[in-house]
Amino acid sequence: MASYDVIVIGSGPGGYVCAIRCAQLGLKTACVEGRETLGGTCLNVGCIPSKALLHATHQLHEAEHNFAKMGLKGKSPSVDWAKMQAYKDDVIAQNTKGIEFLFKKNKVDWLKGWGSIPEAGKVKVGDEVHEAKNIVIASGSEVSPLKGVEVDEKVVVSSTGALSLNKIPKKMVVIGAGVIGLEMGSVYSRLGAEVTVVEFLDHVTPGMDGEVQKQFQRLLKKQGMDFVMGAAVQGTEVKGGKAKVTYKLRKDDSEHVLDADAVLLATGRRPFTDGLGLAELGVEMTGRGQVKTDGHWATNVKGVHAIGDAITGPMLAHKAEDEGMAVAETIAGKAGHVNYNVIPSVIYTHPEVAAVGATEEVLKEQGRAYKVGKFSFMGNGRAKANFAADGFVKIIADKDTDRILGAHIIGPMAGDLIHEICVAMEFGAAAQDLALTCHAHPTYSEAVREAALACGDGPIHS
Ligand code: FAD
Ligand code: NAI
Repeated sequence: MASYDVIVIGSGPGGYVCAIRCAQLGLKTACVEGRETLGGTCLNVGCIPSKALLHATHQLHEAEHNFAKMGLKGKSPSVDWAKMQAYKDDVIAQNTKGIEFLFKKNKVDWLKGWGSIPEAGKVKVGDEVHEAKNIVIASGSEVSPLKGVEVDEKVVVSSTGALSLNKIPKKMVVIGAGVIGLEMGSVYSRLGAEVTVVEFLDHVTPGMDGEVQKQFQRLLKKQGMDFVMGAAVQGTEVKGGKAKVTYKLRKDDSEHVLDADAVLLATGRRPFTDGLGLAELGVEMTGRGQVKTDGHWATNVKGVHAIGDAITGPMLAHKAEDEGMAVAETIAGKAGHVNYNVIPSVIYTHPEVAAVGATEEVLKEQGRAYKVGKFSFMGNGRAKANFAADGFVKIIADKDTDRILGAHIIGPMAGDLIHEICVAMEFGAAAQDLALTCHAHPTYSEAVREAALACGDGPIHS
């Protein structure tokens, strides 16, 4: 038995960042992880492996569609799926080992095994019970089940199985046009699979800006993905290694069936808190199975905190990381803070989609007066040269004060461009502040400036 200032349960981006920050702040810290490797969903079966496959298949797409246009002749690369998998696994290993290195460097003890909290101030791992002045639950999330769809991780897969299918399917049905469905759907579509996305709503990526949703779906269709919208999946049936997906169209209740070699279930994730003993401990939960916390990530049980996918808010790695750092600082007696109004979200397809802050839809609902500055990448020289002119930047600012309220980008490097606007929002900047900032030419970021100019006297290049 050992005694710690802090024991963090879970080593995903929330947990490992929290543990490292606690140690840096002079607290004796351990992190419990039941997986074989550190890094949680994000590094092992989430952000990192999916981005590796998106990167590799984007290169293939470029070679097939754009190389010849630039005078680069020769045969397009063929796909060695086993090698691509090995590349992805290597990327995972480098990242998970990196966290192990950081734990050693910062003197964070890795308690290997599944942890539970038998009573406040104690964490049990295997047969050992450790003492902890503070416990941070960072146990993450898991795939939400869907009635009638049995995931076998072979033919009917979750995102985890989709990252390592035995072979590239000829026909793939994706259930859910959310972030996972469209990222992984893009991967297999680029690899030559016929991908059909079946979505319950009439638009893709719920919660995103309406104009972005429309253009995004249009561009994915152009790339070869098929969409069945307004359709509720009733169930899947697997026979002889093939699947049938039955869905009902909401408009007329008609039933339809799709054949597939692989089915990806991507209809959301839910908090994972199994085995922690939270009910026995008396930890309050929300109606959606999240650990209930106050503004400082404290639960109702003294000394027990929670962060990341296990609590409310967007299920994003960087949101978990920020909470990890903030709760560490709070525990160390400092002022931990997360600005939930400025958390960017990014979809790593091609083009990328990125957003921060309010959408027009929400502002309309609130009755708030706003103005919009929009600029198409068609007017951006760099984007045109790089065959990346599809998309736009949209900045939303307060009608009277010009203060930036949100931004929505679909286009090249959208996931990087959004951060200029995040920083501006953190500083309470007006659109004019961005418009008056010199931006290097030729860069994609000029499109952000032009959108800011469009909030005022107008852009130059449109
Ligand atoms: P997790 O990363 O889920 O980590 C929790 C860890 O706790 C796990 O390793 C688990 O084994 C461990 N654990 C749980 N219970 C116990 C216990 N009792 N004892 C010991 N260990 C325990 N987000 C982004 O921001 N960008 C992306 O590009 C992105 N891509 C994604 C792609 C996919 C396919 C998926 C599935 C998710 C993606 N996400 C992405 C979401 C992101 O992975 C999560 O938001 C993030 O991992 C949440 O971090 P966390 O620390 O809360 O939990
Ligand atoms: P999601 O919530 O993004 O999308 C789920 C989609 O499924 C929605 O469009 C929903 O309307 C639809 N749906 C629900 N029930 C349905 C049904 N019965 N039939 C058809 N469609 C149905 O969830 P997803 O894609 O599973 O991702 C889970 C979480 O993982 C995301 O919320 C996100 O936070 C995180 N993630 C983030 C990434 C990123 O930041 N780039 C990448 C991948 C995941």
